[in-house]
Amino acid sequence: MSTVRPILDMNAFDASNGAKGAVGRRLANLGAASVLFYREPIQMVSAKGAWMTAADGTRYLDFYNNVPSVGHSHAAVVEALSAQIATLNTNARYVVSVVDDYIEALKARLPDALSNVVLTCSGSEANDLALRIAFAATGRRGVIVTRTAYHGNTALVTDVSPSALKRGAPPDWVETVPAPGREAYRDDIAGGFSRAVRDAMARLDARGHGTAALLVDSIFSSDGIFADPAGFLHPAAKAVQTAGGLVIADEVQPGFARTGAAFWGFQRHGIAPDIVTMGKPMGNGFPMAGLAARPAHLADFCAITGYFNTFGGNPVAAAAGHAVLRVIEGEALQRNALDVGALLLDGLRGIAAGHERITQVRGAGLFLGVDLGDAGAPDAAFTTQVIDRMRDQGVLIGAAGRYGATLKLRPPLCLTTEEAARFLDIFERAVSA
Ligand SMILES: Cc1ncc(COP(=O)(O)O)c(C=O)c1O
Repeated sequence: MSTVRPILDMNAFDASNGAKGAVGRRLANLGAASVLFYREPIQMVSAKGAWMTAADGTRYLDFYNNVPSVGHSHAAVVEALSAQIATLNTNARYVVSVVDDYIEALKARLPDALSNVVLTCSGSEANDLALRIAFAATGRRGVIVTRTAYHGNTALVTDVSPSALKRGAPPDWVETVPAPGREAYRDDIAGGFSRAVRDAMARLDARGHGTAALLVDSIFSSDGIFADPAGFLHPAAKAVQTAGGLVIADEVQPGFARTGAAFWGFQRHGIAPDIVTMGKPMGNGFPMAGLAARPAHLADFCAITGYFNTFGGNPVAAAAGHAVLRVIEGEALQRNALDVGALLLDGLRGIAAGHERITQVRGAGLFLGVDLGDAGAPDAAFTTQVIDRMRDQGVLIGAAGRYGATLKLRPPLCLTTEEAARFLDIFERAVSA
């Protein structure tokens, strides 16, 4: 029987025996809330493009970090936010055209119906607000999420993030459904997922909550990355919306061109979400996030509670966010994600064909998952081994999935074909060793 693993325990440093030096200093400063990658954590000093440099001079190819998505320390983003902070930075209660310029550029990428944007500082805040909007707009409380979902760290959002829990279970207004993969739904992922969601709606109804929202990360990152067949979200989304619930597309992971085929992950599924939340890559490292919603839904919420976010949508965030949009466009990074992602997927499938411990390769664009198993069962120990071997060869990757047996690959969108080839070469040796 495979063990279910909380998301933050994956590829994590074990602090229980303490540590010396720079790691010990970190533990002394952050205490039990310190979360570090790797059995032996890495002290980083700088990064550029797809590469990070450690204090000992080692250079790592970053195949994991979804935040500096257009490339670490991208000059255009650095310049835009430096110029803005040298000119004006203030809270959102003044009219500053930089902010409206940015929101209009962002809205040009979004469905027309979602014409109100609220900017926040983190994806957690965006999802927290999205849920509160859904409660207000529907007058209901029930929320459906996938079984190994992660949507953030506020009290409310932790309740809908089963993968964050180390003990206990989500509250009774939360229903979970298996992630949309073959393991749960065999060859009918769209139909099976939709049936699971409809059953969950019936259980929420039976408990008197009703369904306020289906909240999904449209690439199912913490569940283990489930991308295909494109369109599989459509029947479930339709069932929820037909019954008066809202669909919240959490684009914190797949948004901003990562899946290559589309700017947003939900677009690959042809659905029309009622709320889109976003974060991580939005400012290429500048802490910013937000949501787009229908004006009527936002008005329902604001009639109950005012919403103000001191740092959300400040001019520096807007300048950084706008620069990111320009870079994605100007450097054709969506196209690059599609092309280099296809190369990686092909390469990984080729390697998998010769390795029985690689049980499945999935993904879209530059968001890929590789399941590792032993005699068909998920193998978390081997996954950790492969992650460590890759690190020893100068490549950073991570883990995901219910059992921590899926390699999570998420390089910057500027990844070159040479860097992809280098990754495949090192990966083949790491799984074969
Ligand atoms: C899908 C998803 N939603 C929301 C969040 C929360 O974002 P943040 O850490 O910026 O609060 C995360 C963070 O990992 C995430 O993966």
